[in-house]
Amino acid sequence: MDRKEFLKICGFSCLGVLGLSGLMQSCGSTHYAVSNIKDNQLIISKQEFEITENTTTRYRNYVVSKVDGINYPIIIYKNLNDTYTALLLRCSHQGAELTVNGDLLTCSAHGSEFGKNGDVIQGPAEQQLTAFKVLTDAQNIYIQLS
Ligand code: FES
Repeated sequence: MDRKEFLKICGFSCLGVLGLSGLMQSCGSTHYAVSNIKDNQLIISKQEFEITENTTTRYRNYVVSKVDGINYPIIIYKNLNDTYTALLLRCSHQGAELTVNGDLLTCSAHGSEFGKNGDVIQGPAEQQLTAFKVLTDAQNIYIQLS
């Protein structure tokens, strides 16, 4: 094997490793929370936001929940001061399901973008996302579905 061939193989190997690690990160970034419905409330344990590694605990910025009977997932963002925002991942333009990119929600149909509070950042959508009323206690988050 000559030097040029060796460098070519190493380059492709590095690209493969980088691509795989990027794919694994993106796959692991959305946590689908376990939830229950009672009295028209979606109930999610606050522990769904916790990531415990060894002896340290850190917190996810958001979790996503799929709910029977609702055609779109709901994203729940953890805000400061133990408050939460729950948004339906349905584009307000023509109803496509949104993709979560951290604090940015994007629509692949026509390019609309929304912030983590549901506000339109980029059109063609003109209306905010559907937001749900959220209550909490020490253990759980209660999302009022209607
Ligand atoms: S349906 Fe989302 S931008 Fe058109």
